[in-house]
Amino acid sequence: MSDASTPPEELSREAAERELAHLAREIAHHDRLYYVESEPALSDADYDALRRRNAAIEARFPALKRADSPSERVGAPPSSSFAKVRHSRPMLSLANALNDDDLAEFEGRVRRFLNLGDDEPVVLHGEPKIDGLSATLHYDGGELVLGATRGDGETGEDTTENLRTVGDVPQSLSGGDAPARLEVRGEVYMALSDFAALNREREVDGEAPFVNPRNAASGGLRQIDPTLTAKRRLRFFAHGWGETSEPLGTLQGEVLARLESWGFARAPHGGRCTGLDEARALHRRIEAARPELDFEIDGVVFKLDRLDWQERLGAAGRAPRWAIAYKFPAEQAETVLHRISISVGRTGALTPVAELEPVHVGGVTVSRATLHNEDVIAERDIRAGDTVVVQRAGDVIPQVVRAIAEKRPAESRPFEPPAACPECGSHAVREEGEAVRRCTGGLVCPAQALERLRHFVARDAFDIEGLGAKQIEAFWDEGRVKSPADIFDLEAKDGSEGFQKLAEREGWGETSAANLFRAIEARRRIGLDRFIHALGIRHVGQSTARLLARRYGTVDDWRAAMDAAAATPDPDSEAGNEALEALTDIDGIGPVVARAVVEFVAEPRNGAILDALRARLDIEPVEAPETDSAVAGKTVVFTGKLQRMTRQEAKARAEALGAQVAGSVSRATDYVVAGEDAGSKLKKAESLGVTVLSEDAWLAVAAGEAPPPAPENGDEEGEGDA
Ligand code: IVH
Repeated sequence: MSDASTPPEELSREAAERELAHLAREIAHHDRLYYVESEPALSDADYDALRRRNAAIEARFPALKRADSPSERVGAPPSSSFAKVRHSRPMLSLANALNDDDLAEFEGRVRRFLNLGDDEPVVLHGEPKIDGLSATLHYDGGELVLGATRGDGETGEDTTENLRTVGDVPQSLSGGDAPARLEVRGEVYMALSDFAALNREREVDGEAPFVNPRNAASGGLRQIDPTLTAKRRLRFFAHGWGETSEPLGTLQGEVLARLESWGFARAPHGGRCTGLDEARALHRRIEAARPELDFEIDGVVFKLDRLDWQERLGAAGRAPRWAIAYKFPAEQAETVLHRISISVGRTGALTPVAELEPVHVGGVTVSRATLHNEDVIAERDIRAGDTVVVQRAGDVIPQVVRAIAEKRPAESRPFEPPAACPECGSHAVREEGEAVRRCTGGLVCPAQALERLRHFVARDAFDIEGLGAKQIEAFWDEGRVKSPADIFDLEAKDGSEGFQKLAEREGWGETSAANLFRAIEARRRIGLDRFIHALGIRHVGQSTARLLARRYGTVDDWRAAMDAAAATPDPDSEAGNEALEALTDIDGIGPVVARAVVEFVAEPRNGAILDALRARLDIEPVEAPETDSAVAGKTVVFTGKLQRMTRQEAKARAEALGAQVAGSVSRATDYVVAGEDAGSKLKKAESLGVTVLSEDAWLAVAAGEAPPPAPENGDEEGEGDA
């Protein structure tokens, strides 16, 4: 099974396709949590990691890019409960500047684009960047007729009735000189004072508090019942416009003033800046005013003041060339790290989590923060008991930046990575070259079991028709399938009642229930290769499973061999662990894969799952191809340069004849086929008395034209007699 740690270039096409489907679902799910439910579950960093992974796989397999690819979306898709509104002009997002140099680069780009002379001043209009959600308001004859959210920038949601309840959204325009048709854009936000009061009320009512004002505002705007929106006491700052029946003016600042005259609110502290020095000064002034503001801001938006220049510059992709968001540095706070706990992800990755003394930072109270992995902890030398700096920059879950060495308690100890999974007690291992430690519990670990079950029924594993990821999740939620063997007990355990229950479920009927049980029945017979693959052993994909199945033949032989390989060899014997050697001897199975397989089988609870499945299934040996060939079942090693075929071809041909191709010579080797310049393997064969064949002799044997030669000496390990 591949997982998110498999580099994209090592993914098979099928694995990539599966993972892209998974990522599309996963990212959409987190978008929903963030934008719709206002209850995010991931840090920005973890969310970004999902999107980056998706992009990397798409870059490797462009043809697999899905119609619903997350890379084609920004923000949340419109929720289905509101009518969709196509925006007259797209509602854009902004490029970011993080420091003065970025701002200077922005100005430079503008100058080059417009081909301005050095003495031509660039006048910018700076405005606080409100941390809310954008909305657009349409006025006809001075009356509010439509209000919508931004949605994905192209299409938003018709939330007119909700927006009518927002303070500072005029129902009718004042002043008498507004154009006949006017579309005003701006930011819906919740004042900090209202946010604090709302959370106090929620706590009294026993409801979970909102993490920040933006999420509270976003959730409020998406209420189906506008009276609930009204209770959130939302507000609106105008900062732009869409289509209008006549031009509104020639300068950004001038138009904002006109909007104000028609009844809109605009954020304080904005203003004109001639040149970069003035712009930087405004940025500093607004940052200094930030603590006194009753709303959250996260930077200053600089726009070209001249609207004709805005027009000329236009947009590049999703962001205008004429504006930039100069963000404030992340807010930081100090707090005490009580303890480092371990959370277990769905693929078994163990993530260290900082359990913090609650602290207010960046508008939320923070009590947990991800520490990413043990290397990050070691690099930053972060320990339980430390006073640490935490930071939040629009993040949902904040980061621990560093420990303050001077405040470290004398008795503190460096963090020790766990040897066992905290969820299931299985071994936790970290493989070479990997940053993460993983639980080896797989099917037995409650944190991973559902993911493993999804894999178990996947197309390239058990492939039970009608039992996909969705159905297995439902059975899991109902507690009916907790382990793979439960699938094969579904019908018997629940009897006719279970059948009825299934048939009555949403989206099911008697026919589909009957079909499902029939499909499960049909899969009681399964090939050993598919069976091994379905177990979801780390590093064991389809082809490795096939190698194992071919080598060991039956499930019992495979298991016995893995048990033997797990046994510690007798230290007094020189033999070493022959079962383990035989396993790593399979061409295509290296020490990492071998270890994963042996550890899996050695884990007693996996053994119990294997037993339960063996009792319910008819696991068939994979057809050894051409079993009557002269070399079927023989172990062959190729060495040196072959003349009549490539090494790859030789291997494929030998396997097709039922031979095992091994990578190294041992007593278990039947033939060594030596080409030109054969070296150490040939020597070893000679010293062990293994039969050595020339390429031609091998071809003759393989073609059945010559009898298979007998070993030259009566080695006790040899299969034939002398
Ligand atoms: S102008 C065409 N001005 O920031 C430019 N946006 O990161 C579009 N925002 O989606 C936006 N305060 O929701 C502009 N004074 C301001 C803003 C502002 C907050 C939001 C807006 C936009 C997001 C981009």
